[in-house]
Amino acid sequence: MANLETTKVGIIGCGNISGIYFENGKRFKNIEIVACADMLLDRAKAKADEHGVPKALTVDQILADTDVEIIVNLTIPKAHADVAVASLENGKHVYGEKPLAINRKDGKRIVQAALANGLRVGSAPDTFFGGSHQTCRKLIDDGEIGEPIAATGFMLGHGHESWHPDPGFYYAEGGGPMLDMGPYYLTALINLIGGVKRVSGSARATFAERTITSKQKHGEVIKVETPTHLAATLDFANGAIGTLVTSFDVWSHTHSNIEVYGTEGSMLVPDPNGFGGVVKVRRHDEKEWREVPLTHGYAGNSRGVGVADMASAIKESRPHRASGDLGYHVLDIMLGVIDASAESKYLELDSIVGRPAAVPTGLAEDEID
Ligand SMILES: NC(=O)c1ccc[n+]([C@@H]2O[C@H](COP(=O)([O-])OP(=O)(O)OC[C@H]3O[C@@H](n4cnc5c(N)ncnc54)[C@H](O)[C@@H]3O)[C@@H](O)[C@H]2O)c1
Repeated sequence: MANLETTKVGIIGCGNISGIYFENGKRFKNIEIVACADMLLDRAKAKADEHGVPKALTVDQILADTDVEIIVNLTIPKAHADVAVASLENGKHVYGEKPLAINRKDGKRIVQAALANGLRVGSAPDTFFGGSHQTCRKLIDDGEIGEPIAATGFMLGHGHESWHPDPGFYYAEGGGPMLDMGPYYLTALINLIGGVKRVSGSARATFAERTITSKQKHGEVIKVETPTHLAATLDFANGAIGTLVTSFDVWSHTHSNIEVYGTEGSMLVPDPNGFGGVVKVRRHDEKEWREVPLTHGYAGNSRGVGVADMASAIKESRPHRASGDLGYHVLDIMLGVIDASAESKYLELDSIVGRPAAVPTGLAEDEID
């Protein structure tokens, strides 16, 4: 039974993704959003008004606020490390949006600041808590497709400048399809198969500039400073071989999001940038793909469940699932693919992690453990 004692949360970064965190903050009974902040104070005030949050503060004020126990860091990727470290140095646990940071040095800075201060660090994505992804996890653990031997992931699109109000960060260092969307695919695969020990890959940037077609900054041109099409080879610690292609350069395709191939059969895993979707299995002796009913809850948009799990894990003195170590391993894999392409080689990783604990079946709504 989860410990439902309430933990007080403060949000830093009141932009595009913050809305769902404010909404779900009301849904998870063991967390309460008591304050929010942004470098643009008006944004914090607007979100506080909209969601009934008691305090809209500057960043310095929220860091000094003694009510706040966990900071949820929803700033842009290049700000993640400084905001996270400042939170930890002010005695607050921190859970951040993905990626953990934009380079290994910053990623390590966050993890080490948490250790030095005896605090927790958590990192999105938490979509692997989703009903479909936990169903896939159970199927693998139950041996339905045998031993996983390989997996594919495809995240192919044409970038976010058609819809995001301020898409510049997607084409700066720390952006690109691998650091932006890779965390969903890699975290889902690590949840199913385990950590990655060696990577290689090829990367290119097809278009030197991008023109924003969303409303607010319509017509502005962004200089592309990061690879926008990356094809990765992932050697998992258990020997499985992964192929992950992420792109902001592709107009259309027909690949499924994720497929896992086992010694006894194959499994279709739904979009890891979501919590639900259809799970299918086809064992070696079946003529057709078979839809598998979901065995777990959290099939709707449950962003923030990773924060609720971290809050409950702190009270229960158990490891939390969307951990800083997992976020760092994912960052190491993604940067490893970019480095391997630049250096024309395979890279061995030393940041290996195990699979996060599976979510049990039969939980009541809002229970996590
Ligand atoms: N937009 C999405 O659909 C989406 C989905 C999932 C995850 N994310 C992730 O969430 C994070 C935020 O994305 P977004 O789309 O909400 O970006 P955004 O630009 O819409 O919002 C970021 C907010 O952070 C504030 N900010 C930036 N630097 C700051 C700092 N140093 N201190 C305080 N405030 C600061 C900005 O003023 C802005 O209000 C990113 O890491 C992104 O990868 C976004």
